[in-house]
Amino acid sequence: MSAEKVTTSEQIAIGVAHSKLILIGEHAVVHGQPAIAIPFPLVGVESVVEYVPGSIKFDSSFYHGPMNLAPKTMQGIVNSVKETLNYLELPKKDLLIQIKSSIPPGKGLGSSASVAIAVVKSLFSYAERSFTTDELLELANISETVNHGSPSGIDTLTITTECPVWYEKEHPIYFIRPFDDFHFIVADSGEVGDTRTAVESVTRLLRSAPKIIQGKLERIGELTHQAKHALEKAGKNFLGQLLNEAQKELEALGVSDAKLNRLIEFARQEGALGAKLTGAGNGGCIIALAKNEVHSRQLADKLRKFGAQAVWPFVLKAQN
Ligand code: MEV
Repeated sequence: MSAEKVTTSEQIAIGVAHSKLILIGEHAVVHGQPAIAIPFPLVGVESVVEYVPGSIKFDSSFYHGPMNLAPKTMQGIVNSVKETLNYLELPKKDLLIQIKSSIPPGKGLGSSASVAIAVVKSLFSYAERSFTTDELLELANISETVNHGSPSGIDTLTITTECPVWYEKEHPIYFIRPFDDFHFIVADSGEVGDTRTAVESVTRLLRSAPKIIQGKLERIGELTHQAKHALEKAGKNFLGQLLNEAQKELEALGVSDAKLNRLIEFARQEGALGAKLTGAGNGGCIIALAKNEVHSRQLADKLRKFGAQAVWPFVLKAQN
C-alpha cells in the first residue's frame, strides 16, 4: 500500500497509510532524547469513506456500528474524526468509515497512528481537499494523545514519510539517507503490548529514581546519535552493536519481557549483528539486523521455526 495513494469519487474516498518501526530511541524520545524511526511498508491501513445516509458508522475488525456507540478503545479515532469534520466544515452525519488494517495492534508497529493517519486522509479526500503534513499530524495526534497519553509524535510523523526519520521533540525533522542497504527482520513475540502503560511505567521510574533513569535515557540518546552515524557512514557491524546496547538500557527501564528477550537472544545466537525490541515493548516485536540478504532469509526462517508469531524480513535501501 502506498502512503500517497488517495483517491476520490463523488461517493467514496480512500486514504492509506503504512506502518512504522522504531530503530532506536523509543521511550527516551518521550523524555526529550532523539530517536530514529523507519517507515515500514509491509503492513498498512486503508480507510474508505462512503456517503451512507444516517449517523456516522464505523466498519472495522474491532467494531462495527454507530460512531456514538463505539467502544472506549476507539475513543481516540472518534475524537480525530470529529475534529477533522469540524476542520473541514463537514456535517457529522451520512458517512460510513471502513477501516481495513493489516497491522497487528499492540505490536509496536504503530497500528493506532496508521489508522488515524489513514482515516484523516480519507476524510480530506472525501471533502476533496488536499492537506499539508502539519494538518495531517495535528488531526491524527488527537487520536494518539487519547491512546497513548503523552506521545512523542514520532509514530504519526514516520507514517507520513518515506525515509528514515531522525526525530527529537521541538527540533526540526531530519531525514537520514542510509549509505548502504541494511537487512532487518521484524519478528512478533506473540504478546500484545500497551504503549500507554509502558510509557507511564518509564515515566514513573524516572520520577522515583531521576538520576539513574535520566542517565539511561541519555545513554539511549548517545546510542541514537551513533546509530545515525552507523546508517550514514560507519555501517552495519557498528549499528548491530548499538542495537544490542540499546536493548540493555530498555531492559533496565523494565520494558522488555521474557518472550522478547528469548527472541532477541535467539536472533543473536543465529548470527544477527544486533537485536532489540521495537516500539513500546512489554509485548510486541523485535528488530534484528542480518548480515546480508541471504542471512536475512535464513534468520527469518529460523525465527519462524523458533515460534515467532509473524516474521517480516525487509531491506532499508541505500539512498545515495
Ligand atoms: C512507541 O512507538 C514509541 C514510544 O517512544 C512512545 C512515543 O514515542 O510516543 C514508546
